[in-house]
Order: sequence, then C-alpha cells, then structure tokens
Amino acid sequence: MALIEVKGLAKVFQVDGQMVEALAGIDLAIEEGEIFGVIGLSGAGKSTFIRCLNRLETPSSGTVLVGGRDLSTLAREELRGFRRNMGMIFQSFNLLSSRTVAGNVAFSLEVAGKGRAAAKARVAELLEMVGLSDKAGAYPAQLSGGQKQRVGIARALALSPKILLCDEATSSLDPQTTSSILALIGDLKSRLGLTVVLITHEMKVITEICDRVAVLESGRLVETGRVIDVFSSPGHPTSKKFVESVHPSFDQLLRGSFRPKGRLVRIFYVGETVTEPLVYTLVKRFDVEPNILQAHLDVISNQTSGTLLIDLAGQSGAIDAALGFIRTSNVSFEVLN
Ligand SMILES: Nc1ncnc2c1ncn2[C@@H]1O[C@H](COP(=O)(O)OP(=O)(O)OP(=O)(O)O)[C@@H](O)[C@H]1O
Ligand SMILES: [Mg+2]
Repeated sequence: MALIEVKGLAKVFQVDGQMVEALAGIDLAIEEGEIFGVIGLSGAGKSTFIRCLNRLETPSSGTVLVGGRDLSTLAREELRGFRRNMGMIFQSFNLLSSRTVAGNVAFSLEVAGKGRAAAKARVAELLEMVGLSDKAGAYPAQLSGGQKQRVGIARALALSPKILLCDEATSSLDPQTTSSILALIGDLKSRLGLTVVLITHEMKVITEICDRVAVLESGRLVETGRVIDVFSSPGHPTSKKFVESVHPSFDQLLRGSFRPKGRLVRIFYVGETVTEPLVYTLVKRFDVEPNILQAHLDVISNQTSGTLLIDLAGQSGAIDAALGFIRTSNVSFEVLN
C-alpha cells in the first residue's frame, strides 16, 4: 500500500458567498521513499492540496490516508501526534524573527515537551545536518535566503518525521541556491529515509529532484507519471508548456527569422541511448542532412537525458526513411513542422 493515498479529494472555499473550487477531485498515491512533485500555475490548488495532506486544511470531500490511516477519523490529540510525522517547509520560511537560529529549531522540540538538555543536543545535531552549526546564535535577519531555508529544514526535521512537505520551498531563492537546497533535500531524503512531497511552479525543480510528478490545473490532475516520461512525452498541453519552460521554446525559434530547410525533429534520449551516435547514423545510412539547432543534456531524476532539435533536410523519400529509422531506435521524438 502506498504511504499516502488521496481519493476524490475536493476542497471548496466560500468567499463572499461565492464558491471557489480549489480542488475538484484528486486521486493519487505517493509511495514511501519517493520524491513526489506537484506542479501547477498560481491558483491551481497546490498549497490547498499539500495542506490537506497534514490536515492544516479540512477537505470538503474525499479521503487522505497516511500509512493506511484516514486522517478524518483522528481526534484532535491524535492528529497532533500524527502531525509530528510530517515536517513542512515554506516559501517564506516562516521563521520567528525574535529567536536565534537555534531557538527557531528548538521551538517544535519545546512544544513537544522535550527536556532542555535533550533539545539542545538535538538542535546541534540538526544544525550540523543542514550545515549551519556556525550560525546557531544568529537571528533570521542576519541570514541569506538559502540559510533561512536551511533553518526551516532543520526545524521541520526536528521531531524526526517520515514525511517532508515542501510548499514552494525554493521559489524565493536564486537558481544556484535553489539547487543547493534541492541537493540538501535529496541528501536528507536518502540519509533519513524520508518521503518528500514537493510543490512548485518550476519544471526545473521537478526535473532536478523528483521521481514522479503530478500536473495540477484548476484543482484537477491533468497528468501523473514518472518525471522522465512526462518530460520526454508530455501528454497534456499544460504539461507540455512546463516542459518547454526548461529549454527555450521551439515555437520561439520558429517565430524568429529562422526558416527550416526540412523537417524539424525534436528527439529525446534517456540513459544509455544518450551515447548512441544517432545523428551520425542518419548521415551515414540515409541521404539526409541533419542540422543540429539545439542540444541539451539534462539530469532528470538522476538519469542523464538529452534533447536534440534537428532540421532534417533532404529528398522527401530520404527524410521518410530517416524518420522511420528514428522511430525504430530507442528514443522519443516528435516532428514539429
Ligand atoms: N483560505 C482560502 N479562502 C478562500 N479561497 C482560498 C483559500 N485558500 C485558497 N483559496 C483559493 O483556492 C484556489 C487555489 O489556491 P492555492 O493557494 O491552493 O493555489 P496555489 O496553486 O498554491 O497557488 P500559488 O502558486 O499562487 O501559491 C485559489 O483560487 C485561491 O484563491
Ligand atoms: Mg501556493
């Protein structure tokens, strides 16, 4: 059984007598030990979704099972105990400005009634884990965004939860700091055996760290799958837009003065096939001229992948034969014109 099972989850808000349907029936299962990403535009319902997982938000209908337990059946006291199993980090860090770094991390330990000495040792351990031992006495205002999020992570993990929920945890950070925070989350996941649910509006974040992804639009899941599969062949226009956001869009290229000589082919390679000399084979075996317009190497869910955009010129028969060959090789491809 999956660690988190969401069935028919819906949430309707009443705003000035108007109904706002934030979630309109979500079904998904998150397996233990995976990093599961949810991507969507602003207002798609991402925060509402993640808040339903730890019941900061009460669903209007549907169920959320965590470790087989239906959260709606938990009494208030039980729910409090249950929430210790889920740490959460936020875009705005939500640190207490009047407390030091150590004081912020100690907060949840104090609330949980841990003794002073035990709390102090645990705080030191957590700060070491996130690489902030030297900042224990600093105040949040003295920290960079990345350092603030490290404090957020230490605080979220204070009570040794099995699940880490991340609500746009890197959205206010620059790309380099984003990568370092994502690397830290990935590392802690492996070391501590965490299951991570991460929501974001950035496809780059998903490709950098997630195993699977769900695409959320207007409260509905429009696609769910392995990141590498969604990246190589997105099955919904919204997913496609997110994928294209990682690399400059091909549409943009066509809108410029560039005119292709032949067929524009976008090829996506994964893993071993990256090393296959596909373009070389095309030239050698078919009477075509593949002009490479764009080439990217990416690491998606720890697998190397490549995206290649070629302008395949030649006689139409030769082009068709070349496309036939690409079809039989172990790559995904799409003809764009
Ligand atoms: N407490 C609330 N009261 C009323 N409406 C709400 C509330 N929380 C969310 N909504 C509405 O529900 C919808 C989904 O909001 P939500 O915050 O879940 O989106 P989001 O995907 O997290 O967006 P963002 O990327 O901007 O954070 C929006 O239309 C929002 O206005
Ligand atoms: Mg949000």
